[in-house]
Amino acid sequence: MEQLRIPGPTPCPTDTLQAMTKQMINHRGDEFGQILSGVTEKLKQVFQTVNDVFLLTSSGTGGLEAAIVNTLSPGDKVLSVSIGVFGERFATIAKQFGAEVTPLRFEWGKAADVDAVRQALKAEPKIKAVLVTHNETSTGVTNDLALINSAVKEFDKLLLVDAISSLGSINLPVDEWHCDVVVTGSQKGWMIPPGLAMVSVSQEAWQAHSNAKMPRFYWDFAQAKSYLERPTPQTPWTPAISTVFALSVALEMMLKEGLSNITARHAQVGKAARDGVKSLGLSLFAEESHASNTVTAVAASDGLDTKKLLRILREEHQVVLAGGQQRLDGKIFRIGHLGWVTEDDIKAVISALKVVLPQAGFKG
Ligand SMILES: Cc1ncc(COP(=O)(O)O)c(C=O)c1O
Repeated sequence: MEQLRIPGPTPCPTDTLQAMTKQMINHRGDEFGQILSGVTEKLKQVFQTVNDVFLLTSSGTGGLEAAIVNTLSPGDKVLSVSIGVFGERFATIAKQFGAEVTPLRFEWGKAADVDAVRQALKAEPKIKAVLVTHNETSTGVTNDLALINSAVKEFDKLLLVDAISSLGSINLPVDEWHCDVVVTGSQKGWMIPPGLAMVSVSQEAWQAHSNAKMPRFYWDFAQAKSYLERPTPQTPWTPAISTVFALSVALEMMLKEGLSNITARHAQVGKAARDGVKSLGLSLFAEESHASNTVTAVAASDGLDTKKLLRILREEHQVVLAGGQQRLDGKIFRIGHLGWVTEDDIKAVISALKVVLPQAGFKG
């Protein structure tokens, strides 16, 4: 079987896949209502929040759009803390809907500097919200969200977090860290296929919602809340029912493993990936102090042709890794290690790399 080690979609255990083979049920009936309320309660445990959590039928990007259009109005000032491709995407969505975005960009491969965030907030008191990527999948860097959040809250701003490739794998206590809207996606650490975005919404985000004028229909959190609170809990629009079945099973598995064990497993697997690539003479692209435990970005050096590397790995070793995105194309390759993954899976990747690296021109 192919070893899919890209940072999403990730491999799914048989139990979650099997749950998806169940026959369709009425999405406005009692059976689905019970599943939806069970899933929502369990999601709250993983998000570590007592606030609202909603399931949206979309990929993660839809969740990012929902975070913006539910809390902001055209002309609102927004600070975008960006450390890579996905930070830029979050800012682009805000711009498209008419926000005035102040970009605060950091060198790709590095984490955001909290003092710079503080300075930017001091310089522009009218900023209403801050956009942050918790784990930047394009560079393999995890921001120090707790620190960034404390700066954002010193200035009493709304904090919108892209936690698509972190939540459920890397610790993110949403309430303790005062995150207002947090977005994640089913195809990442949740061990299920693409199809759902999950979002949490704080009280402050609801206050912002009541004044937010950006156009929204499908994404309206007020609709999601009113349908979820009906006597038979539902979603306003037809949900990806099969993916919800899978999520229900995945959440049981996750809570059985325990959040701290999941975080520890990802830390162990992340370390194995970093140690493994370094043992082959490769260098990490991300600064090591902030290297991600869900995706490892590796710099292409010493003659390494990443495209050739990925092709030989895939064709001859059934190991599928990811390349670099946008300006990192050809400059890095990435190993995804989130969700259903063990240290042995990563050792297998490292063994395959050892064989293929010289064939792909690596002279290190
Ligand atoms: C950090 C981050 N943000 C946003 C996205 C976009 O999510 P999707 O492709 O599910 O729309 C991804 C997906 O790779 C991601 O890793």
